[in-house]
Order: sequence, then C-alpha cells, then structure tokens
Amino acid sequence: MKVSVIGMGYVGLVTGVCLAEKGHQVVCVDVDQEKIEKINQAIPILYEKGLEELLKKNIQVNLQATTDLHKAVIETDISFITVGTPYRGNEIDLSDIREVSQQIGEALRDKSAYHVVVVKSTVVPGTTDEVVIPILEKASGEKAGVDFGVSVNPEFLREGEAVQDFMFPDRIVLGGMDAKSIEVLEQLYSVFSGIDLLKTNNKTAEMIKYTANALLATMISFSNEIANLCSAIGGIDAVDVMKGVHLDKRLSPIMPNGKRIVPYFTTYLEAGCGFGGSCLPKDIKALSAYGTKAGSPMRLLEAVTEINQERPEKVLALLKKHFPVLDGVQVAVMGLAFKPGTDDIRESPAIPIIEALLKQGAKIKAYDPMAKHNAQKLFVNKDVVFCDDLAQTIDNVQAVLLLTSWEEFKRIPELLHSRDQSPLIIDGRRMLPKDSVTRYEGIGL
Ligand code: UGA
Repeated sequence: MKVSVIGMGYVGLVTGVCLAEKGHQVVCVDVDQEKIEKINQAIPILYEKGLEELLKKNIQVNLQATTDLHKAVIETDISFITVGTPYRGNEIDLSDIREVSQQIGEALRDKSAYHVVVVKSTVVPGTTDEVVIPILEKASGEKAGVDFGVSVNPEFLREGEAVQDFMFPDRIVLGGMDAKSIEVLEQLYSVFSGIDLLKTNNKTAEMIKYTANALLATMISFSNEIANLCSAIGGIDAVDVMKGVHLDKRLSPIMPNGKRIVPYFTTYLEAGCGFGGSCLPKDIKALSAYGTKAGSPMRLLEAVTEINQERPEKVLALLKKHFPVLDGVQVAVMGLAFKPGTDDIRESPAIPIIEALLKQGAKIKAYDPMAKHNAQKLFVNKDVVFCDDLAQTIDNVQAVLLLTSWEEFKRIPELLHSRDQSPLIIDGRRMLPKDSVTRYEGIGL
C-alpha cells in the first residue's frame, strides 16, 4: 500500500523504514529540510539499532523523504501522524497534532479518493475524535467516515529496540472511527502474520497506550518506594527483596521441566535512580493532568511522578553521606543516556544530578558510550569534562556515580583493582555486586 508518515522522530522514522521493509511504498515527511536530505541520502538522523541498514536498503526503492506534505498525502492511501506530543505547562501540547491535521485536511480537499488518517502519536483519550477529526473536516470540507477514515494505532516501541519492536510486534492495536478505517489498517498490517490484533474505537486505543506506559512507570516507582524504605530501616537490601518478589510464580512462571521463565517485565521491578526518556515521564504527567480535568484525579500516578522526581536527590544523598561538602570533590558521572542502548538524554536522571553537582562546586568528569554529543550540547560552557573512555573517567576521582546500566560499566571493579584505586562507588542502578569494590553505596541498600 502507499503510505505517508508525517513527523520524523524515532517513532516516525522507524515506522516509515519498517513499513518500507515490509513491502509498502512509503513517503516520510518532515518540515526540517536537513532531516529530509539526510534520510534521502540514507544518513540516519538518530540512533536506533538496525535502522541504518534498513534505511540504506529501502531508500529510493520503497522509501522516499520529502518536505511536501500536500503531495505526500495526495499520492498515498494512508497518512500516519507521528509528531511529538510534549507535556508543557500543565497539559499535553497538541500544537503539532493540530498543525499537521490542518495540513492533511487541506491536502484532502484536493483529493477525491478515500484516505485514512492514522494517529500514531501518543495523545490523551478523545483527542482524535474531538480535536483531529473536526480539524480534518473543516480543512478538507469533507465528512469523516464518508470521504476519509480516521484511526488510532498506538506504538509500543522501546527506544534503542524500536526496529526490533516494530518488525516483531507483541500486539497491534487498531482503533478506528468506523469499520472501514480499521479494515484499511488491517490490510496494511496483514504483512505481519500471527500477531495479536486488537480492534477497538479510537478513544480506547488512545487509553491503551497510556495505560501500558503508566503500568511500567508505576512498577518502577513502586520498586523505588520499597527501596526508600529498605534504606531507611537498614539491614535490608532492596535487591534481595525484589529478587524474592520476582520468584512469585505469577511473575516468573515455572515450566514443566522445572525451569523458570524470567519475563523482561521484571526489569521494571527493580530499585534504581528513576525512569526517564521521551515517553514515560511526559505520558504519566499528561494522563494525570487529563484525569484531573476529567474529574477523576490520578492519585497513584501523581505519586509515581513525585517518587521519580526524588530519585536524583537519593543518589546525591548517598554521596553527601561521605562528602558533606561537595566543593572541589572530584566526581565521575557514569552514564548520561536515560537508559542503555540509546544516545537520548531527555529526562535522564543524570541531568539534575550534574546540575546539582555543578551548583555545589564538585569537579565533574562525565562519560557515556553514546550520549556524549547530546550532553555536551546541554552543558555547553559548563564546567564538565566529557571523557572518551571509561578508564580515563575514573582516573583520580573521589566518587563514581553509576547512573545508566551500560554493560561496560561492569568492568569498573576490575579496573579499580588493577590500579589500586578505591573511590566511593554509588550504584544508582544496582548493577555491580556490592562486595566487588572497597567502598560501595547503592540505592535501596
Ligand atoms: C517506553 C515503553 O517501554 C514502550 O513500550 C513505549 O512504546 C515507549 O515508552 C513510548 O511510549 O514510546 P522507552 O521510553 O524506550 O519505552 O523506555 P523503557 O525501555 O521502557 O525504559 C523507561 C525508563 O525506565 C528508563 O529510564 C529506564 O532506565 C527506567 N527503568 C526501567 C528503571 O528506572 N527501572 C527499571 O527497573 C526499569
């Protein structure tokens, strides 16, 4: 089928590239000319594992990129909206959704064939029916459900694993204003066989997306609240507590051969320095704000955000236990990305931690295997030394803060032993065995 994808963030680009790989004819659209030129030259505009190869393979074959939204809509059967929906002020910011809906509507005015508009961006329930459809109808002069269809097809793509998650989905949720809109999407996704397909209305599809992310965030904050209590009591390690909880056969089922299935899900039930990224923090805040507006305040989710926002302070408190005055203290910040496998630093706990360290006069060295360039842009002209390797970063520091669980950080104990160095290690992700270094502090210990 012929598809246009509007908005070239990681969701849009991965959607476009993967649909092309699956045999559809795809046009990627963005207002940013530079992004479009790069995509057309098969230069990846962001890092996603496996994306570059698929982009190179499909570009100018099944895939093109353009800034001409009008033409892209006219020449395709389906348009995906994949623009950003940030949280601003005290609610979701729908400006880009409105703008793109307006432009799609104007293009539909010049098109007679039936077209389906699909909202893939994460939007609060009701947005598609109450905001997108009226804009499309007004701008096109046409009737939704007659001249064009409107669907919601949320994405469940983890950053860093987005290509894999798109190519091998665990579920496909197809919302639609009517059966015809859903049918068109079903046809598009028929190239993915054997996947659980859930057909529903637009509002429910929108709610599924938020509920899925809210559950993940709640599990993380729940684990962190338990970790807070463990630290406060003393003599309890939250890691052992959560291990004991994970052994519940409802969380990690025992197979007939006696072996356990350890679901990936349990990785959200671990103590740490908090969740970040471009999705979880903003989605939880947007849903909470939406709940209040709808007369059903989300008290649990408000606490989830509050607990998460306190995580950086917990890391700093561990540091201050040993260095009550941070002025002049040499600190290595290990990990800037919000999670391993990505160069994304948005809402990373490393940001408030570096800001606090700077304020208190600590001497900071920072290292991340992928996110250095992004962090440098954020802390430009700030007194942070960005290092190129692990060994250099921990050289002559008094404390090491582990904030992202990059696999290579597991080498730290070995490196320190070989150099006879014993800085204080503060394990914000509980990724090192606690007896592997001389001076260890960890979240939830
Ligand atoms: C998340 C969801 O996992 C995806 O299903 C969803 O599609 C996506 O948001 C989205 O809405 O687009 P992502 O933001 O890539 O994906 O993040 P995750 O891999 O889920 O990790 C979220 C955060 O939780 C990271 O900061 C991670 O470090 C943190 N985390 C994870 C913890 O703090 N503790 C844990 O035990 C596990």
